[in-house]
Amino acid sequence: MLSCMRNIIEVTGLTKRFGSLVAVNNLSLDVMEGETFGLLGPNGAGKTTTIKMLTTLLLPTSGSAKIGGHDVVKNSYESRKIIGYVPQLISTDPMLTGLENLTVFAKLYDVPAKTRKSQIDEAFEFMGLMDAKNKLVKNYSGGMVRRLEIAQSLLHKPKVLFLDEPTVGLDPVARKMMWEHIAKLKTEFGTTIFLTTHYMEEADRLCDHIAIMDHGRMSAKGTPDSLKNSIGSENATLDDVFAHYTGNSLDEGAGFRDTRRTRRVARRLG
Ligand SMILES: Nc1ncnc2c1ncn2[C@@H]1O[C@H](COP(=O)(O)OP(=O)(O)OP(=O)(O)O)[C@@H](O)[C@H]1O
Ligand SMILES: [Mg+2]
Repeated sequence: MLSCMRNIIEVTGLTKRFGSLVAVNNLSLDVMEGETFGLLGPNGAGKTTTIKMLTTLLLPTSGSAKIGGHDVVKNSYESRKIIGYVPQLISTDPMLTGLENLTVFAKLYDVPAKTRKSQIDEAFEFMGLMDAKNKLVKNYSGGMVRRLEIAQSLLHKPKVLFLDEPTVGLDPVARKMMWEHIAKLKTEFGTTIFLTTHYMEEADRLCDHIAIMDHGRMSAKGTPDSLKNSIGSENATLDDVFAHYTGNSLDEGAGFRDTRRTRRVARRLG
């Protein structure tokens, strides 16, 4: 199915300590060019910390990671040039229009002035936001804000796009629309996508390979089907896989934290 089998992300023994806490513990994984890769795990497992190291925003304590052959520490500039990043927290300005938000990012990404307008329009068109281009972002729905953030991260045509919980706080219709956009990124541009999500159906639908983290450590990796087969129960779902490898499905503490956080995100998204 995948035409190119080159690894575009290579992670070896990646570790991040915050004081005595080992947030990411000796993580190793490979992502093939053009695939969609899902990093799953309970709250606090270390997913965002991993993404921050891969996007050069956080220095690893030890271990290494390469994006397109560039070491994220030694060649952080080259790594940054080929990646896009949509953070877990909202990254658009609600008091600006969609167009103004994208213009700020086009300048930030050094999109040449000559092609700026056409590249911005292309990004709006691609994410289905052309009609909302001149509206203030504070009047966007949550799904539109999330799509604008992806449009923003696509302006420099990144080879690898990191999406940290692209659909948190979205209703089921907006979520499915987002899935279509993410799938289209892969089929039309061959973009490699590295995403995190707490929605197992989403991971199942979108991801070619999945890694499950728990307390900073890798607890399983494989294709959705191989993971389901690996737990030895017939008709297993990815929810079963998640529970099996994290033992976390009925953790009330995590559930409470997750609810509080989803509410916070929902408030931010409006
Ligand atoms: N800057 C920081 N300083 C200290 N501890 C941190 C820092 N950033 C993250 N942590 C801790 O590292 C652990 C991993 O956090 P991280 O945000 O990577 O988890 P996550 O898997 O993304 O969780 P969630 O699903 O809730 O987004 C948590 O225990 C968190 O409290
Ligand atoms: Mg996170």
